[in-house]
Amino acid sequence: CRALPARTNSLVIVLDGPQTPAVPPRKQLVFSFMDTHVIDHPLAAALLTTMRDERTDNPSFRSALRQLTQMLVYEAIRDAPVEEFDVRTPVDTARGVRIAHPPLLVPVLRAGLGMVEKASSMIPQSRVGFVGMARDEQTHQPVPYMESLPDDLAGYPVYVLDPMLATGGSMVHTIELLVQRGADDVTAICVVAAPEGVAALSESGFPVRLVTASIDQGLNENAYIVPGLGDAGDRQFGPR
Ligand code: PRP
Ligand code: URA
Repeated sequence: CRALPARTNSLVIVLDGPQTPAVPPRKQLVFSFMDTHVIDHPLAAALLTTMRDERTDNPSFRSALRQLTQMLVYEAIRDAPVEEFDVRTPVDTARGVRIAHPPLLVPVLRAGLGMVEKASSMIPQSRVGFVGMARDEQTHQPVPYMESLPDDLAGYPVYVLDPMLATGGSMVHTIELLVQRGADDVTAICVVAAPEGVAALSESGFPVRLVTASIDQGLNENAYIVPGLGDAGDRQFGPR
């Protein structure tokens, strides 16, 4: 699979089609017109490498995730509108700014928990909602088990925090919960995305953009991202 270019408002992804001995490999073109930003920075690449490395222990994985979250949120909020106001310096008055509409942060439990503390410390005025979602590892379908969200999200920017966008089922379901509450400005912030997940998000038709550190090759037979980084929940908190 390949995704071009690194920073774009529309993305063309070439997915490997089904491959059996009887059917020669074929390519399927998926056109994604979703606003997609793949961060391109050597520090982000180094942190992602630490997270991918199977020798990285739980505390080091959580630490790298926190630091990479900082870079992802930094990019996600880059074009946010600001309000100007005056501050007194020890010397004079300076024109300052603050984020005009701080977002609602929504970590998807469990794995998104490792992103929320850093994101909320960067945007202290942000509110936090929660969605609990566990993927059924046989069917690969999301199984929601908890939600705690404000009732009315119309006009409210929402940042969904989940390190992994694999089939996209968990993210699409989470965004559906947000859209039911009127959300019309959603940003999915993911460490690693599979092309299949990007396509699912784009095809959902929901008002969403994606900020990620990588679009990987694809999914394996267990719907794990390849090369990916394994199970992001287990790698932070240990096996269930
Ligand atoms: C992981 C991950 C996403 C989901 C991605 O969570 O954090 O929520 O899988 O897969 P999808 O795109 O195919 O839906 P998981 O269900 O393993 O739960 P956990 O966070 O509790 O480990
Ligand atoms: N969930 C994960 O944690 N990792 C994957 O690769 C896919 C789903």
